[in-house]
Amino acid sequence: MVSHVSLAGFLWAVLPTAVLQCLGWSSTWDIEEELLKPRVKHFAEFFCGTGTLSTALSQAGMRCAWFDIHLEPSHDILTATGVAVAVRIALSVIPGGVVWFGVPCSTFVWLARGHTKRSRQNPLGDVARADVSRANCMAKIVVMLCHVLAKRGIFFVIEQPAGSLLWQTPCMRLAARRLCVKGQPWSRRFVWLGHYGHRISKPTELCGVFPNLARILPSRRPQGKSTAGVYRVWASNKGRMRVRGSAGLKATEHYPKRFCRTFAREVGKCICRHLT
Ligand SMILES: C[S@@+](CC[C@H](N)C(=O)[O-])C[C@H]1O[C@@H](n2cnc3c(N)ncnc32)[C@H](O)[C@@H]1O
Repeated sequence: MVSHVSLAGFLWAVLPTAVLQCLGWSSTWDIEEELLKPRVKHFAEFFCGTGTLSTALSQAGMRCAWFDIHLEPSHDILTATGVAVAVRIALSVIPGGVVWFGVPCSTFVWLARGHTKRSRQNPLGDVARADVSRANCMAKIVVMLCHVLAKRGIFFVIEQPAGSLLWQTPCMRLAARRLCVKGQPWSRRFVWLGHYGHRISKPTELCGVFPNLARILPSRRPQGKSTAGVYRVWASNKGRMRVRGSAGLKATEHYPKRFCRTFAREVGKCICRHLT
């Protein structure tokens, strides 16, 4: 964990003026004052959607914070107000607590590579497209929040479908090299959400700094489940392969309850061990 003075300097340097204004911070003194306020949350879920994960943690007795544009228009992370809300939530988590980011994946997945033009060589893709550049911006904000969390001694996990190119973006690669929390380095875990009751096999990658990541997540492929019906593959007139997500694709983004309960148990253990 770094000192309040150093974190205040970091926030002052990285946050745009509009965000600092939304937060009511006009000097590093204001930030230091904010950093001294008591922290109360055990867990925060960014891009929580239906909030199944936070619900499981609340039911397990933990104090949670939710963030999603669907909950509140002010939670749009691509606006100054949204970033300000996100920073306040990040600062409200106790040391040894955990933050989860279910980053929107639509432009990072392989299904979208045809139009996003993302690839391992060019992970930022066609930045002239609004959806691609917005997603890149979101990735940078998430990484900035991860830096704040690491400096505050808070663990974090970022979730993406397997094969996402989010991990290849320059900001994520840098975070993976640099960030550690309480001596715990960045790690990556593959998990089949189908193993936890998802209706499809749902291969998923979790990255970040969370000591219990390795123990929760067996990567045994679930029997009798596939991704059938979630996307359609066909050949175009020119003989090129085309892929499109089907109507059922959106519904697959929610986490199964059994996974959420398992994760909640591990967060509970982590907090007990690391509470300072
Ligand atoms: C992949 S979904 C997460 C689903 C979630 N894991 C669940 O179990 O329901 C991504 C979420 O990001 C939210 N989102 C998309 N753009 C956003 C933005 N600009 N600011 C904040 N949230 C956003 C969406 O509302 C959506 O719920």
